[in-house]
Amino acid sequence: MLYSDMREWLKAVDDLGELRRVDGADWNLEMGAITELLYEAGGAVPPAVLFDNVPGYPAGHRAIFGLTCSVKRMALTLGLEGAETGLDLVKAYREKLRHFQPIPAKEVTTGPVLENVVRGDDVNVLNFPVPLMHELDGGRYIGTACMVMTRDPDDGWVNFGTYRVMVHDEKSVAFYVSPGKHGALHRKKYFDRGEPCPVVVVVGADPLLFLASGNEVPYGLCEYDYAGGFRGAPVEVIKGEYTGLPIPAHAEIVLEGEAVPGDVKDEGPFGEWTGYYASAGRPEPVIRVKNIYYRNDPILTCARPSKPPSDYSFSKGVVKSGMIWDELEKVGIPGVTGVWCHEAGGGRLFNIVSIKQAYPGHARQAGHIAAQCHAGAYLGRYVIVVDDDIDPSNTFEVLWAIASRSDPVESIDIIKRAWSGPLDPRIEPGRKGHNSRAIIDACRPYEWMDQFPPVAESSPELRARTLAKWGHLLGA
Ligand SMILES: Cc1cc2nc3c(=O)[nH]c(=O)nc-3n(C[C@H](O)[C@H](O)[C@H](O)COP(=O)(O)O)c2cc1C
Repeated sequence: MLYSDMREWLKAVDDLGELRRVDGADWNLEMGAITELLYEAGGAVPPAVLFDNVPGYPAGHRAIFGLTCSVKRMALTLGLEGAETGLDLVKAYREKLRHFQPIPAKEVTTGPVLENVVRGDDVNVLNFPVPLMHELDGGRYIGTACMVMTRDPDDGWVNFGTYRVMVHDEKSVAFYVSPGKHGALHRKKYFDRGEPCPVVVVVGADPLLFLASGNEVPYGLCEYDYAGGFRGAPVEVIKGEYTGLPIPAHAEIVLEGEAVPGDVKDEGPFGEWTGYYASAGRPEPVIRVKNIYYRNDPILTCARPSKPPSDYSFSKGVVKSGMIWDELEKVGIPGVTGVWCHEAGGGRLFNIVSIKQAYPGHARQAGHIAAQCHAGAYLGRYVIVVDDDIDPSNTFEVLWAIASRSDPVESIDIIKRAWSGPLDPRIEPGRKGHNSRAIIDACRPYEWMDQFPPVAESSPELRARTLAKWGHLLGA
């Protein structure tokens, strides 16, 4: 890996020419809106944006958006080589997972995160340039590209997930964890026993940890071990003073505290990855912050969900695609040639799997599992299965396959009462929980695929001959 912490990663991104510095933008909507305008075209090239000299904050107290949202930054972050497109990244990520061995975190006694430690009465989470992201948000969100860490009180499993964190006041924040997420399961165990739930929120995370945190690492596996496996070296951690939870020694900013049963306050609304303010403000558990740890000149890491594309939708789709592909193979689906979770669906709602059909029922099997495996199950909507001659990341080809190879009566399966939650814009307020899924089998029908009409396009030989002779007319 070319970096071991956020600062080295930043230098590497600068060397790639993908870091944009912005001075003087306000935390109050400006940082968010600048990011939106930079990212609304989507795709794989916009820069990471580092905001400094934020009005009201000391120079050097920075905020960064768009961490991993380009092919080059993803390749850098995950240590992947030779990727030029999103699908190349998925394949390289998938290949890395094939040989993947988790490496547990290593406890150390010191690290840059201890450069400043603020306790008790001195705690003020607004000492950092926390953005108000969108106009209708219920508050300033300090946790977006963050990691929320909890420990299973029964077996000690440390989990982190990216769960949004809203500021209530200097010493308290809210965290919204969707139903079924590992952090929600941990928290419930403490609350059911009437005990406080210790929580650490890393709001200046190394981008590799952020990718592990914001995606569906399997139940029971600690994201530190996952990130360590990717890096090929353990993540160094320091025992938190208040919770005993392992804090990344090289983090930029860490909040440490606890959530107490019954201590709730209104959280949200918040502009979300589906493209909507999907849920109104509702009571959610509060984290009372006891300690803050931070580096000199700290960098707050941010992600701004919105109507896609956003500053993390590309990277989300890449990791999701790799994870779904991995799960398909692990349960024994052969012949998967590609998976692509489209940015328009925020990496969840519109997912495509390509296969080389090998037996009757192969396409349905791949589609149903992609819709229900751990990485694909939460708040999905459509899974489209296509033949291996279709590039799943090419929307035009996918739509052509649906239009020409599927038959609405025969090709669409519906799954009812699947895992969804309050962020789903298509569920009526007050009924949020389940949704349905459509598996669209857009493959040639297996039984007669050999007789399916041939594709009306030139053969590779005719194309090559034509290009050799007429390339000057064709811009080749
Ligand atoms: C930028 C970003 C923001 C996210 N916000 C939330 C959130 O507010 N609540 C939530 O439950 N999941 C959120 N997620 C998704 C979870 O982080 C993801 O499902 C992760 O796998 C959860 O960890 P877990 O599987 O250990 O529960 C977010 C993901 C990203 C990348």
